[in-house]
Amino acid sequence: MVKIGLIYKQLTQRDIKVLNSIERGMKRYEYVPLELIEKYSKLPETHVVLILSKLHRLKLVKRKTISGYKAYRLTYLGLDMLALNTLVRMNVVEAIGDKLAVGKESEIFRALAPGGKPVAVKFMRIGRTSFHTTRRVREWADNPRLDWYKQAKIAAEREFKATREIYREGGSVPSPIAYNRHAVVTEYVSGVELYRKPEIEDPYTVLLRILETIHIAYVKVGIIHGDLSEYNVLIDISSNTPYIIDWPQYVYKEHPQAEVLLRRDIEYIIRFFRKQYKVEVEINRALKYVRGEDEQIQ
Ligand SMILES: Nc1ncnc2c1ncn2[C@@H]1O[C@H](COP(=O)(O)OP(=O)(O)O)[C@@H](O)[C@H]1O
Ligand SMILES: [Mg+2]
Repeated sequence: MVKIGLIYKQLTQRDIKVLNSIERGMKRYEYVPLELIEKYSKLPETHVVLILSKLHRLKLVKRKTISGYKAYRLTYLGLDMLALNTLVRMNVVEAIGDKLAVGKESEIFRALAPGGKPVAVKFMRIGRTSFHTTRRVREWADNPRLDWYKQAKIAAEREFKATREIYREGGSVPSPIAYNRHAVVTEYVSGVELYRKPEIEDPYTVLLRILETIHIAYVKVGIIHGDLSEYNVLIDISSNTPYIIDWPQYVYKEHPQAEVLLRRDIEYIIRFFRKQYKVEVEINRALKYVRGEDEQIQ
């Protein structure tokens, strides 16, 4: 397993400079010619060559020879290093720890903020797997003209901005702290995924809080999660609090599929609570409440 923190510690500011130069070149090239990397980094040629072989060994860059010339691009790990470096400079992250989870489209790490507060860092990994393996609605990124790292950056920005708005309006999401490039930092929630069927003291109240958060997202922020299920809810058992996570694929309520997605989101959650916790909430009543047509559910 690759330890992101251990790799990051091996990097000097010059290494970061070279990574930055490649990133800059990737706006124009898929693989950035060595000459351009030298020009952007303003480092002597021999140094750049040495640094690039180190970066290659650490799997932070990919190399290709194009008609006799060497050219490089960042890997996701290379982009992780740049995001991490910026988050450290922003005083958002002090140390990065273990991997918490690997999703289809992200990797999540535990980290510490300065002062020791635990945070979660989510690195987006869009474009790594086939689009057909995900059922997400993602027209914003399903654009073959957008490179993988551009899609991942859009995803991070969307997740950060959506959760910031919902959090501001009082919805239950991990409090967002910052984002950079394809990485989003939120408070670390010490919780269990709902699909693991944790023992919940008061499941009815937890379900209501989930529905309230969907309501806030819909009425106050104007968005629908679009991929809600027991996989995207964390339950903090000690405080009986649910957190809705994983927002990058949200759609606006004006979206042509908005109503279908809203109903589906609500159905998944209500069915799960009915089956696992014997809690009864009627789907149409929940829909009316979420849309703001009824003030209460029952
Ligand atoms: N803020 C957080 N605190 C603690 N664990 C988290 C947090 N965010 C995500 N996780 C963990 O990472 C997993 C995947 O997160 P998610 O945002 O759903 O990404 P994916 O797109 O990969 O599904 C979650 O199921 C959870 O275990
Ligand atoms: Mg998820």
